[in-house]
Amino acid sequence: MSRAFVTGSSDGIGARIADRLADHGFDVVRHARDERRAGQCRAAGVTDPFVTGDLASLAQTRALAAGLGQFDVVVHNAGWVSRAASRPVTVDGLEQTFQVNALAAYVLTALMPVPRRLVFVSSDSITGARIDLSDLQHERAWTADTAYADSKLAMTAIAFAVARRYPGALCNAVHPGWVSTKMSGDIAPLGLDAGADTAVWLATSTEPAALVTGTFFHERAPVTLNEQADDVAVQDALVARCAELTGVSLHQT
Ligand SMILES: NC(=O)c1ccc[n+]([C@@H]2O[C@H](COP(=O)([O-])OP(=O)(O)OC[C@H]3O[C@@H](n4cnc5c(N)ncnc54)[C@H](OP(=O)(O)O)[C@@H]3O)[C@@H](O)[C@H]2O)c1
Repeated sequence: MSRAFVTGSSDGIGARIADRLADHGFDVVRHARDERRAGQCRAAGVTDPFVTGDLASLAQTRALAAGLGQFDVVVHNAGWVSRAASRPVTVDGLEQTFQVNALAAYVLTALMPVPRRLVFVSSDSITGARIDLSDLQHERAWTADTAYADSKLAMTAIAFAVARRYPGALCNAVHPGWVSTKMSGDIAPLGLDAGADTAVWLATSTEPAALVTGTFFHERAPVTLNEQADDVAVQDALVARCAELTGVSLHQT
């Protein structure tokens, strides 16, 4: 049976992506930040196995990757936005939004065997974002919204760098839409099925439109929201910086 792994599948869009991949016949491994959250999901009726690890910790992210085997599909869905007024710093001394949203996906991708398909759940907030390689972690000035948007742009550029390095895999990014979850609140108009749809399509479909790589999608259609994500020089410099920050290098295939 084909195997799928979805980060941040304890809640929201990631949980629904995991549900739908199971409906498609995948053997799904879910991810929660810790045993308490995994236990809450099991108590709510989830029967798929869970692996755990706080993506705001490099040690836990590395340990998570080390415990994972080969998957056919990996969905980097976990995401976080700060509600605090001041710049959040992790146990690793890194800005937390960047670490959870971008660096953790980089570390997992680098340390896991290369799957057949990778989907990075990004955001349309990248439209107004910017990768500043001299201040990736917003040490000069920080706001929650800017840190979130810039981290999602960094994650998208990492996805496209991975697409170039793993020519045998399909690796794409997706904006799920404005979806009602604990991140976005009840004001968001879309339900979880709509939010999961394009990621699941990219993970499973044999339609020619889905069999591409290095592309940003919204509602199953390619879109360009920020050309910096497609800039190969930016991608390579960002990957080099991620390697410096983590001590982990991407596979060369
Ligand atoms: N909702 C939207 O309108 C929208 C729009 C654009 C993009 N997105 C993106 O869609 C993805 C899913 O978001 P969502 O709306 O479904 O949000 P959500 O309901 O808050 O789910 C986020 C998931 O990520 C996990 N997570 C967060 N920080 C983590 C950490 N440090 N370690 C491990 N897991 C962590 C959460 O775990 P817990 O359950 O323990 O918190 C949860 O499973 C995110 O990447 C988000 O940026 C969402």
